[in-house]
Amino acid sequence: MSEYEIVETNAENIDACSLCGNKSANNAGRRRKANWLKERYAEGLRYKVLRSREFGDVGMIEYAPGSHAWRPVEAADYLVIHCLMVSRKHQGKGLGSLLLDSCLADAKKSRCRGVAVVTSSDSFMARSDLFIKAGFVSADRIGPYELLVKKLKATAPDPRFIVDRERLCKRYSKGLTILAADQCTYVIKSAERIAETARTLGLEPNVVRVGGAKASRELPTPYGVFCILYDGKLIAERPISATRFRSILRTNAEQAVRGDRASASGPASSQPQRPGK
Ligand SMILES: CC(C)(COP(=O)(O)OP(=O)(O)OC[C@H]1O[C@@H](n2cnc3c(N)ncnc32)[C@H](O)[C@@H]1OP(=O)(O)O)[C@@H](O)C(=O)NCCC(=O)NCCS
Repeated sequence: MSEYEIVETNAENIDACSLCGNKSANNAGRRRKANWLKERYAEGLRYKVLRSREFGDVGMIEYAPGSHAWRPVEAADYLVIHCLMVSRKHQGKGLGSLLLDSCLADAKKSRCRGVAVVTSSDSFMARSDLFIKAGFVSADRIGPYELLVKKLKATAPDPRFIVDRERLCKRYSKGLTILAADQCTYVIKSAERIAETARTLGLEPNVVRVGGAKASRELPTPYGVFCILYDGKLIAERPISATRFRSILRTNAEQAVRGDRASASGPASSQPQRPGK
């Protein structure tokens, strides 16, 4: 038997698995992710754990059919990878490729159009490198987010992002809104930390739990499972620290003061912002 095996998870065995490197049954993010997964298996979502005989669970891949993907992409009949991760100590031995190959094999077996994945040069997502090596090509891009595809049917239409940022930001035009889904164990913790920090600054956040794949495709960010908006402006599209959050609010407030001064001395600025406290 090889040192590593890929374990298919399901509602029965998921509670015993490490989720995205998190093994603690007391961790709220992990608990919510496990419950989230139990509701997703029936939609065709796959969560595979990479298990080492010596070290236990050391990696994972998660993917879903395009119609149930928690990413704002149009990718009908594709499999969409949400996450791919191998813990640092085990990287560089071909294990990431092994997990990716198992997803590609599923795509072939289910005769779908291919596999798509959102990558990012920023943190909290895999970069494009491993996928490019495996023959993926770029299909779309928004800022640091790149949508890659490996087609199994050459004539299939390309997947694409469906992020209408301007329209979607308008939905959250007043105050602080944190949108977060249980898809990511880290997102949950980050949302709680930002909400607590906001309260210490006198801001009561509107914390919205993103409850389904359709709702996640209505987020104004390609990440699809987390973002923070302040007075209709997207201020973070991935989990951030409390320090970074405070600094963004401070910069926002300074910009608003500068905007007010400019509008008092010159032509009216287009839309002055409410300063953060
Ligand atoms: C991407 C990743 C799974 C690759 O795992 P791995 O076991 O090292 O993969 P392999 O050994 O099969 O291939 C190594 C290749 O992966 C690529 N790679 C390295 N880091 C990468 C990253 N962060 N993202 C994408 N590809 C990466 C490189 O091309 C590397 O080849 P090189 O060593 O010659 O440069 C692993 O680097 C990882 O988990 N990175 C973090 C990903 C992440 O942030 N996920 C979000 C949490 S869901």
